Amino acid sequence: MNRLIINGDRKKGKINRNIYGHFAEHLGRCIYEGFWVGEESPIPNTRGIREDVVAALRKIKVPVLRWPGGCFAEHYHWQDGIGPRAKRKKTVNVYWGGVTENNHFGTHEFMDLCEQLEAEPYICGNVGSGSVHEMEQWIEYMTFDGESPLTLLRKENGREKPWKLRYFGIGNESWGCGGNMRPEYYADLYRQYQTFVKSYGENKIFKIASGSHDDDYYWTEVLMEKAGKFMDGLSLHYYTVSGDCWQNKGSATEFGIEEYFRCLQKALLMDDLLTKHSAIMDKYDPEKRVALIVDEWGAWHQVEPGTNPRFLYQQNTIRDALIAGITLNIFNRHCDRVQMANLAQIVNVLQALILTRGEEMILTPTYHVFDLYQVHQDADLLDFQLDCGDYELDGKKIPLLSAAVSQDGAGRVNVTLCNLHATDQVSLEGCFNSTGLRPERVEGMVLTADQVNAHNTFEEPDRVKLAAFNGVKLSGADFTLTLPAASVLRLSFVCAKQGER
Ligand code: AHR
Repeated sequence: MNRLIINGDRKKGKINRNIYGHFAEHLGRCIYEGFWVGEESPIPNTRGIREDVVAALRKIKVPVLRWPGGCFAEHYHWQDGIGPRAKRKKTVNVYWGGVTENNHFGTHEFMDLCEQLEAEPYICGNVGSGSVHEMEQWIEYMTFDGESPLTLLRKENGREKPWKLRYFGIGNESWGCGGNMRPEYYADLYRQYQTFVKSYGENKIFKIASGSHDDDYYWTEVLMEKAGKFMDGLSLHYYTVSGDCWQNKGSATEFGIEEYFRCLQKALLMDDLLTKHSAIMDKYDPEKRVALIVDEWGAWHQVEPGTNPRFLYQQNTIRDALIAGITLNIFNRHCDRVQMANLAQIVNVLQALILTRGEEMILTPTYHVFDLYQVHQDADLLDFQLDCGDYELDGKKIPLLSAAVSQDGAGRVNVTLCNLHATDQVSLEGCFNSTGLRPERVEGMVLTADQVNAHNTFEEPDRVKLAAFNGVKLSGADFTLTLPAASVLRLSFVCAKQGER
């Protein structure tokens, strides 16, 4: 029997809300069309930013948004994106398809978007093709409260007060599109660039170094050794790439059980990667001062047929919901070191939460997972033990279930569970240990469908949606339930402390 024991009296750390963060790059239709439609658009907008997308994202409490890239950031020169829009120069989005970038969405528009979302901005600076001086000036333009030519310019451009900017990345994928550097070289450049990223007045910048990807542990080792004391965060990128390899990705919607299984297996690898990168960080930083920031993660499939291959527009199925559910459970469990994560990407690109077509908008299964999991934001991770069987396919095994358990400020215990099995329901027995909390009532929500490739389309936008789950039987400290095949669930227990009535 599969069993979950919740040790309600053992808190294992705070789950930073930023683990539920997102990423928006100037790539395909993420910024333009996804967010920015311009003030003259018939699509309802607030200062050019579409209102339907903002309203949907506010509902799931997006805590932090990373911008402008990604690889785009390493080509971006911030001065191109300020001033009257009609006068902004048109540039080329070299990395993503060579399309024209009119720079209508720049610093002011991004900060406005973050204010509308009530999300913290996380800006990634250009190390690969930008200068130290340019980076220094951008920080001054955005955050300095005193008088200087740059702050006068900011005021002329309509922003009197400086913005609050906490998170700043110093380069992106410096081992690849950010300059193809060796870690030793980047570590020195990082030390140099970060020296000129100043914290003005009350605004304290949290500096994030461009980190490793996948299992490149050498990058983490060198960065921590040579530059660890100069950083607040070190990033990590890991994508769940469907198909055999990067060159031969699988379809987002046309796949069999074998391919489904393989994707979940790859998603589960995140646990191992975090454990091993964290162990290296522990060597240099046992106090865990430096955060691990997984600022790009998610599923990467073939683009939708007929769309620009450099726009990375892909559909999103129940399989993607499982990838999100499993990964977020892993992040929660690593909340001692992982302080932020940013799904790639928020609208119309890769594992998007939202897809748009003209004035229409649909929510993907992945959106619904973030909706379910928002209860973990800033909650206390609780100790738990999950003993479950394996899901076996062609001699390979993955666990049947994935879980995370936390307690929110109101005392509710929230359990997020995934049943990874594509076709079989799974029974689970659970219990709250005797010295901790006593459950009095439980509410459940579930995301599932009859097929693992079920997805929402503009024609059928609610094929995959959340539903109430009333299948939990609660008896004292014990509970039982049966999870539908390929499902993501949230159980919320209203609890009393033992001995209280
Ligand atoms: O998210 C798409 C791209 O993937 C980003 O621009 C880059 O950083 C990564 O390789």
